[in-house]
Amino acid sequence: MIETAFEKTFGAAPEVVVRAPGRVNLIGEHTDYNDGFVLPAAIDRYIWFAGRARRDRTVRVRALDFNDAAEFSLDAIEKDAAHSWSNYLRGVAKFLEANGHRLSGADLVFGGDVPREAGLSSSAAVEVGATIFWQRLVKLRLEPVEAVKLARRSENEFVGVPSGIMDQFISALGRRDHALFLDCRDLKYRHVPLRGEVKLVVCNSGVKRALAHSEYEVRVKQCRQAVEELRAAGLPVNSLRDVKLGDLITKGKALDKVALKRASHVVTENDRVREAVKVLEQNDLSYFGKLMNESHKSLRYDYEVSSKELDVLVEIAQKHPGVLGARMTGAGFGGCTVNLVERDAAEAFAEAVRNGYQEALGLRAEVYVCEASDGAMARV
Ligand code: GLA
Repeated sequence: MIETAFEKTFGAAPEVVVRAPGRVNLIGEHTDYNDGFVLPAAIDRYIWFAGRARRDRTVRVRALDFNDAAEFSLDAIEKDAAHSWSNYLRGVAKFLEANGHRLSGADLVFGGDVPREAGLSSSAAVEVGATIFWQRLVKLRLEPVEAVKLARRSENEFVGVPSGIMDQFISALGRRDHALFLDCRDLKYRHVPLRGEVKLVVCNSGVKRALAHSEYEVRVKQCRQAVEELRAAGLPVNSLRDVKLGDLITKGKALDKVALKRASHVVTENDRVREAVKVLEQNDLSYFGKLMNESHKSLRYDYEVSSKELDVLVEIAQKHPGVLGARMTGAGFGGCTVNLVERDAAEAFAEAVRNGYQEALGLRAEVYVCEASDGAMARV
């Protein structure tokens, strides 16, 4: 498919083909930028890239999903407001070159089936895919974690979104039938098998994450504020990762009320992730699901990043007999829920969600029955 699109656009066969997956986060939300723990999985929805090298320093890109094209020179990489989809690719090229890797010009097409603006990290998939594309094209080999950091820099410093490292990490390093347990402080990680007969079912609320950017920044600041207030109260912590539940009980009075709620979410969420990994390793999926449900409550009431639509989707899900656990996933304020569903119940569950959501809110939910998949890779 992507090869055909390339040939149609540029009249030759591509030299490099890459795919990079989207992701769901199973548990550990809004913990990554607090040096905490996350447990995402890559999903079997991908952004595909096909391209060839050029002799000059020009990059010509066609975005299939936007039915649009853009062109830039590697010698003057600037943000482009008129083709903002291209900034994810520009940023990656810019930081590769800034790190001393000489690129060549390229003709490139990309596109895929990771829903956009749905909180499934289509932008991280573009960044990670672009990183691998360039590596293949000019025969570079970056350490995987270095490539992840570079992709994230592109998001933070070029595109200008102050996100954590989770999305790029899982798109690059996901593994089929596994979740990935990541310590966002030292970036140590391990893959945890998803052994049971389960599917990861993603329900898209269809609500674009309008507040996601501004409120995300507010949450990042509130977490910093909580850390400062705890330090002022004599607790020697560098981030919410260092805070224990007991600290919040003894020092909570020193915190602004809102900051205390935000801190409570992060502290309890980190505990939940560690527990979730333990029970997943014991294959206790029903306990794992309970932790997912708890996570949603905490995001809804303490972190306040859920929405009416997400809450309705989660309520419908949690009533369904085949569901082990349900919660919002990603930054919040719209986007998707993730549901751990018994394999044989997945289709009936999808139907129940579509009908229930329509009945409750008069809205259409898209449902994607997914499996945990491998991280980004090139095909030569
Ligand atoms: C977005 C960010 C991630 C993470 C999540 C919330 O997806 O890109 O880094 O902070 O929100 O867990």
